[in-house]
Amino acid sequence: MPNAVVMTGYGPPEVLKWAEAPLREPGQGQIRIKVKAAGISPTDLALRAGYLREAIPLPPNTVLGFEAAGTVDAAGPGVTGTSIGDGVTALLFSLGGYAEYAVASIWTPKPDTVSWIDAAALPSSAEAAVGVLRQLNVTSGETLLLFGGGGSVGIIATQLALAQGVKVISAVGEHDETLARELGATPVRYGTDVASRVRALGAVDAVFDAAGKGVLADAIALAGGPKRVITLSDPAAADYGVTLSQPKPDRAPGALDETIALLADGRLRLRAHTSMPMQQAAEAHRQMESGNVHQRIILTLE
Ligand SMILES: NC(=O)c1ccc[n+]([C@@H]2O[C@H](COP(=O)([O-])OP(=O)(O)OC[C@H]3O[C@@H](n4cnc5c(N)ncnc54)[C@H](OP(=O)(O)O)[C@@H]3O)[C@@H](O)[C@H]2O)c1
Repeated sequence: MPNAVVMTGYGPPEVLKWAEAPLREPGQGQIRIKVKAAGISPTDLALRAGYLREAIPLPPNTVLGFEAAGTVDAAGPGVTGTSIGDGVTALLFSLGGYAEYAVASIWTPKPDTVSWIDAAALPSSAEAAVGVLRQLNVTSGETLLLFGGGGSVGIIATQLALAQGVKVISAVGEHDETLARELGATPVRYGTDVASRVRALGAVDAVFDAAGKGVLADAIALAGGPKRVITLSDPAAADYGVTLSQPKPDRAPGALDETIALLADGRLRLRAHTSMPMQQAAEAHRQMESGNVHQRIILTLE
């Protein structure tokens, strides 16, 4: 039996164990991937800790991971255009990325110029960035306020919005101000009085909350109502009448194809990331949770 990082229960990082897990067969329209790299998302930490157990209950021995890159190992019925051995990166709405083998329904070919680690860092953040920008329907000439502009989703959203001719005001911490400027956004420091700092820069047409850290009251005030405010993770969204954008297959079809092409051409920058062997997933969760590492961790397999 192959191995995976099995979640033996809700709790601290130690619940993650490198253990045997059944080899799944790909179903209709699915492929199985021999995984080389898998991204860790902040959502994985919340799922593991049990904070989301009401909204997203997990079965026993769940394998976390919304994204994985590797080679195609098997194809289910109805799969065309993909051969065994092809390099791909996949978005795993049903989780399972922290494993030697993952089954995927949504994937894109990995160009040779993109590393396995970069490929694994892309899918979940890119899909969310593309999806929310489409839902906000921001157009050229408008101004978008982005909370979390230094994060994995925020960096991608910034670049995609700017490329569409949208002006981006990026609410970031001090350490991400230079990054926001380099990308072409106007940085403002998040935290107390962020609303007045944004107002000083002019009117805002829409707000993308890619931080989820209690910014919705400010967002609504700045956008003139909740209609064009979308959050990825603020649990108070419903209280404010704000849309909580959920990962769903119809949110951003084509997002992986669009963004991997930009990554391959050097036209898309990802949040800084480092890598660790997948067997050390518990330690990787511990480090990300500590807040001391200002970068993402991608799990790798030899
Ligand atoms: N619903 C979905 O489909 C979906 C998909 C992907 C991710 N998510 C969720 O979306 C959120 C962002 O994901 P991510 O991967 O981009 O996370 P990330 O890389 O950790 O980025 C979060 C960013 O938010 C910043 N931040 C913290 N407090 C802030 C505040 N008060 N105002 C503005 N920015 C602030 C952080 O800055 P510092 O470095 O200064 O702390 C960081 O740059 C997470 O909660 C994640 O679980 C949801």
